Amino acid sequence: MDLLLKVTDIRDLTSEIKQFTFVDEGGGDLPAFEAGAHIDVHTGNDLWRSYSLANSPGETAQYITGILREEGGSGGSRWMHDELSVGDIMEARGPLNDFPLVESAESHLLIAGGIGITPMLAMGYRLKSIGADFHLHYCTKTPEGTAFMDDVKEVFGGNLTFHHDGGNPADGIRLDDVLKDQPEGAHVYICGPGGLLNAARESASHWSDGSVHFELFSSAASGAAAPVHEEGDQPFEVELKSSGQVFTIPADRTILEVLRDEGIDTVYVCEEGWCGTCETGLISGKVDHRDECLTDDEKATNTKMQICVSRALPGERLVLDL
Ligand code: FES
Repeated sequence: MDLLLKVTDIRDLTSEIKQFTFVDEGGGDLPAFEAGAHIDVHTGNDLWRSYSLANSPGETAQYITGILREEGGSGGSRWMHDELSVGDIMEARGPLNDFPLVESAESHLLIAGGIGITPMLAMGYRLKSIGADFHLHYCTKTPEGTAFMDDVKEVFGGNLTFHHDGGNPADGIRLDDVLKDQPEGAHVYICGPGGLLNAARESASHWSDGSVHFELFSSAASGAAAPVHEEGDQPFEVELKSSGQVFTIPADRTILEVLRDEGIDTVYVCEEGWCGTCETGLISGKVDHRDECLTDDEKATNTKMQICVSRALPGERLVLDL
């Protein structure tokens, strides 16, 4: 859904993280959202960026998000921090949810790293309101660098463990201990930078299928972005099912870049294979999946792909559901 949002509040949560509050530009209600949801906002430097909603999912008067200023990123968070002011109007889309709670689970274990707390806070509001069994492990470097500290304490109460590692992950959360045994019917949700995510997924690899949920908070700066180009990449052909148009994708370009240049309508946010926005149905052909958002099972079905990073396997020709 297309939205026009007005900024009503910007405040520092830490030296690197700001909280932003948006309301409907026309003064009406905003679309309801579920815990784990995000909105895509159009920044003034013409980027679309996804930000998770942190407030209580029952609220339709406002959206609240927290944004880490990333020096090495593509500039979306820097623009939000440095250029946006109270009273400004922003184009946005959503809310969308790629990280939903499984509310029927017996219990919920939440692991947040840094700014990954944002969707977890909304999850906490929801889990508390339905009387669920839940616990949050919140990993940051220092207490001063911990965003939403008061809200987190209020929402999670005794169901909360902080892990401050001082910048050395070896002094932080012991994931193998936390994820050692899967309680009957438990689900785990992990949100944070690539390093934490990969380590937690590894430690939870013995958990049952479908019980491990994750969302990557990443930019090129974190080193967790998918590799867009690799040595030895070859050109390949892509056909669009609806029009029959055929395009050659050169070795040094992505499907998304070529389609965009040809004026084909595409939606995308991260262009790094982690946000899920550019997911496209696949009619035929075998894909070299390079994204971080599809599960291994989804990749194996060969029915969809992220066109911002993934390519055809050698000798394959792809027909896209576009
Ligand atoms: S645009 Fe984010 S996964 Fe492709």
